[in-house]
Amino acid sequence: MAKRLSILGATGSIGQSTLDVVRQHREAFAIEALVANANIAQLAADAREFGAKLAVTADETRYRELKDALAGTGIEVAAGPEAVLEAAAQPVDQIMAAIVGVAGLEPALAALEAGNTILLANKECLVSAGELFMGRAQALGVDVVPVDSEHNAILQCFERRNAARVERIILTASGGPFRTRALEELHGITPEEALKHPNWDMGAKVTIDSATLMNKGLELMEAYHLYPVEVEQLDAIIHPQSIVHSLVAYADGSVLAQLGTPDMRTPIAVALGWPERLATNVARLDLTALGRLVFEPIDEERFPAPRLALETLKRGGTAGAILNAANEVAVEAFLARELPFTRIVGLVEETLNVAERQGLIAPMHGLDEVRAADVQARNLAGELARRRASRAAG
Ligand SMILES: NC(=O)c1ccc[n+]([C@@H]2O[C@H](COP(=O)([O-])OP(=O)(O)OC[C@H]3O[C@@H](n4cnc5c(N)ncnc54)[C@H](OP(=O)(O)O)[C@@H]3O)[C@@H](O)[C@H]2O)c1
Repeated sequence: MAKRLSILGATGSIGQSTLDVVRQHREAFAIEALVANANIAQLAADAREFGAKLAVTADETRYRELKDALAGTGIEVAAGPEAVLEAAAQPVDQIMAAIVGVAGLEPALAALEAGNTILLANKECLVSAGELFMGRAQALGVDVVPVDSEHNAILQCFERRNAARVERIILTASGGPFRTRALEELHGITPEEALKHPNWDMGAKVTIDSATLMNKGLELMEAYHLYPVEVEQLDAIIHPQSIVHSLVAYADGSVLAQLGTPDMRTPIAVALGWPERLATNVARLDLTALGRLVFEPIDEERFPAPRLALETLKRGGTAGAILNAANEVAVEAFLARELPFTRIVGLVEETLNVAERQGLIAPMHGLDEVRAADVQARNLAGELARRRASRAAG
């Protein structure tokens, strides 16, 4: 029987790679809902190609455009944030959660509440509301299968039955395009330079996060929520080749790693097939051609984000939601050329510190606290960025 699959963020980098894997296994999947935002042409083309039952844009003003693009196909069309939540809650076997940013949180939660197995690409869900998200998943008995290449690697290496014998989880980071640049050269980096990732082809937000290494920070936070480990057991190291996707170290001295060429279609196929395996046509790894694998420590002075993420986990409560919102504001400001590259992580840290002084870091009981922290942090980060810009101008 074909698995019923919905995709949130269908037109993005992860969404398109997911559809590419499905294309290679057409008989194994039946596409229910495809959800996107602004890219109506791609959404309509995919809905037609895969015979989706439902196509949804989050943007109400684009309803007519989508409706016209799918006229005569019989594919149901809907628009707006409520329609996104309804699409997420339609019963399926698996749903790919690949909307970018905290905008993906409520749709992923709606899917979870409906009992749909979540293939989780959106990392901001766990960073902002990890306790809440995983708490609900556990209470409902719903599986959350990580898609992010590092956590997908850990999924393959983490022996749940031997969880007490896990000493460390080690995430690998490519180091992004500026790994070897001197600190004083980082200041003038442009969005165009930062958007060129050496190994991975990804959406804009995650590419900038990779360049600041905030991506690794977000992933450390994700790993904490996905796997039964303490903050002190989480580690990240630089591995510029992106061949070893992450490692799990055990008390007997064994270290298990997952290797592969850097292509998101592999972790996506693992998630779609889990616990079975699906074939893909990704480039095969040739270790002798590679010759050697390189690892180095993260230079915390140039890349403070992983440290900040671990501190944020220790702060607990809504600190993660504040870090995430401030980072989204900072990345947008950088892309709009309103904030220098070297201030992105600084703005996030400053927002967290001011939030703490103002008593804004609160325990997280539900979505209301996450929403409030998100709004407060966006306002605070925006205000801090504006003050900085006017100081720079004056
Ligand atoms: N790309 C990777 O290799 C990678 C790896 C690991 C994890 N991730 C994570 O996966 C998530 C997606 O990343 P990506 O690189 O695929 O991002 P992306 O290429 O920017 O795509 C984002 C997707 O989200 C949709 N979207 C944006 N805002 C929306 C909203 N308010 N409601 C509904 N849909 C919305 C976009 O629709 P339109 O295009 O139609 O506007 C698009 O389909 C991120 O959380 C990222 O951190 C990505």
